[in-house]
Amino acid sequence: MAFSKIDLRNFRCFDSLSIDLSSKSSLFYGKNGCGKTSILESIYVASSGRSFRTSNLESLIKKGEEAFNIRAFDDNTGSILEVKKTKTKPINIKINNSKVTISELVRAFPSFSIDSKTFFYNDNAPEYRRKNLDRGLFIASAEYAKDWFGYFRSLKQRNSALKLGDIGQAKAYDPLLVDHGERLNFLRESLVTEVKEIYDEIIKKLTHENKRANIFSGLDIYLKNGFDNKTGLTEALINTNNIDLKRKTTTAGPHKADVIFESKGSLIKDTFSRGEQKLLSILWSLSQNIYLSRSFNLKPILLLDDLSSELDVEMLECFLPTLKYIENRFVFSNIVDLFGSKIMNDKQLFKKFHVEQLK
Ligand SMILES: Nc1ncnc2c1ncn2[C@@H]1O[C@H](COP(=O)(O)OP(=O)(O)OP(=O)(O)O)[C@@H](O)[C@H]1O
Ligand SMILES: [Mg+2]
Repeated sequence: MAFSKIDLRNFRCFDSLSIDLSSKSSLFYGKNGCGKTSILESIYVASSGRSFRTSNLESLIKKGEEAFNIRAFDDNTGSILEVKKTKTKPINIKINNSKVTISELVRAFPSFSIDSKTFFYNDNAPEYRRKNLDRGLFIASAEYAKDWFGYFRSLKQRNSALKLGDIGQAKAYDPLLVDHGERLNFLRESLVTEVKEIYDEIIKKLTHENKRANIFSGLDIYLKNGFDNKTGLTEALINTNNIDLKRKTTTAGPHKADVIFESKGSLIKDTFSRGEQKLLSILWSLSQNIYLSRSFNLKPILLLDDLSSELDVEMLECFLPTLKYIENRFVFSNIVDLFGSKIMNDKQLFKKFHVEQLK
């Protein structure tokens, strides 16, 4: 499912607001403090029960009010989603009048946010890229979620045994780690390989339109799976027994995985400029969104706050043709109206909203 329309009441700076999203790209533009991030945040809250800005949901209630309400509609299925948060009670989410849990909500209305941390995807610790990979697969596949919990439960127990110096007890968890871990690894590898194919297709088209996009082509992007590829996980766990005992923790396995981005043998984070890194992260996230929708029959909304920060006009020109290849809803914000400039000429697939005028 995916929202086509969203109504807000007492959310952040808005008393009430009603928005009809485009089936492809929607741009929210306007000056600082007009409410662009708040609109994107409301979509994220409505599809995850969380904010990408804060863990304190109470701060989303308009100052002086007691509660915020979000209603979202899916034109295709006729579903209605209602989210309510009062100052004193936890968030309440209903789909077609029935209460749902956060994990049910996330699967029914998935959304992914490209925020300032995602912009510099490659600068973050491996854990960030792992989480990003896992969140997509978690939403897409209930089986993946089961294996993920199974793996981390066994890992915790194995590590407790290692802390006690009991290698015999630690090894007892190896079969479970291998069983869950190999399945996690398989889905992660498929994701990275297939997202890379989609990414390469997009870059090929972009390079055709603008030579500057060439910098994003010919990259090596692959999963480092966290254990010796040649031996496999079973052997890798045996081979690291001594080191695990010394460090009192499991040093090999999918919990150590990372996604590596390289250009001509150098890591992207060491060579790409900030603008290049930001655009690469956006293009990768878009490709991942396309993969999740094609392979798992999802309709994830992709949210991108503040498109043009760090990007010069040429870099923006390089990016804008990508909007033609978007397969699901893409909601993004910018200080200025990009459609007003010469850059955009194909307006059919886009809807733009001047946020100051929505109030
Ligand atoms: N709970 C709240 N009640 C009322 N106003 C709020 C609340 N939370 C935030 N605001 C205000 O809402 C306004 C919109 O904030 P938002 O972050 O959405 O702006 P923005 O358009 O993204 O700005 P920028 O271009 O600077 O990123 C700000 O003036 C902010 O101070
Ligand atoms: Mg903002």
